Amino acid sequence: MRGGIRILFTCIMMVFVAGTPVRGEEGSIYLEAIEKGREIFHERCAVCHGFDGVPEIPEAPNFARGERLDKSDEELLNTIKHGQAMMPAWKDKLTEEEMREVLTYARIIMGDVVFQERCIHCHSTRVPPLSESLPAVEELSGYSGPLDICRSCNIEREMTREEIISVIRFIRTLAD
Ligand code: HEC
Ligand code: HEC
Repeated sequence: MRGGIRILFTCIMMVFVAGTPVRGEEGSIYLEAIEKGREIFHERCAVCHGFDGVPEIPEAPNFARGERLDKSDEELLNTIKHGQAMMPAWKDKLTEEEMREVLTYARIIMGDVVFQERCIHCHSTRVPPLSESLPAVEELSGYSGPLDICRSCNIEREMTREEIISVIRFIRTLAD
């Protein structure tokens, strides 16, 4: 009888383990890490810069296309703090930390939008770590090989290269 129970227990455990849907769970990154930056962006910046980084006013740079984002954090933070042309100054409304968080979000806004559209229904709020065989973010735009971001689905075939690169940058930023 004892042995029977043990075998039954083992079977249940095997079914349980096999049925666990996400193998990479431990290494997963939580989307909450960027929630604060996204919230500030939506509240304070999206009127001009757009909820998806595509600007609402022609004078503002297009973050979805990476405009101005090749500048250093220090340069961009300086503009955020003190303003420039139509861009208001934020130093009296946001803390240093909030300005950094919102800038980090502006840098990955397109990847966030792509992740919400293409990946979140399978991955929920857990972002799987990217395969180490992928080229580094800086080399991505000039890289012509296959990127193979999700070996478990075919989503990549429906995506533009720009979208794939932005989602990789997004996941890598979250991983840091
Ligand atoms: C009233 C509209 C408006 C709002 C609100 C606004 N921006 Fe801007 N932003 C602009 C415009 C216009 C520019 C381009 C300024 C120029 O001519 O250089 C700009 C430029 C920028 C740049 C590029 C700076 C550079 O050095 O090239 C960053 C980064 C930026 N905004 C971030 C933000 C963030 C973060 C927020 C919210 C906290 C925000 N903006 C809110 C209009 C706005
Ligand atoms: C149809 C469901 C589905 C969609 C859509 C999907 N994935 Fe996955 N993905 C999975 C499953 C299942 C796994 C394997 C379990 C795991 O590692 O979480 C996986 C694994 C991964 C992994 C781990 C490495 C690997 O290849 O196994 C990465 C990275 C990944 N997905 C990225 C993405 C990205 C980025 C998107 C959106 C562009 C996406 N996935 C869309 C189902 C999906």
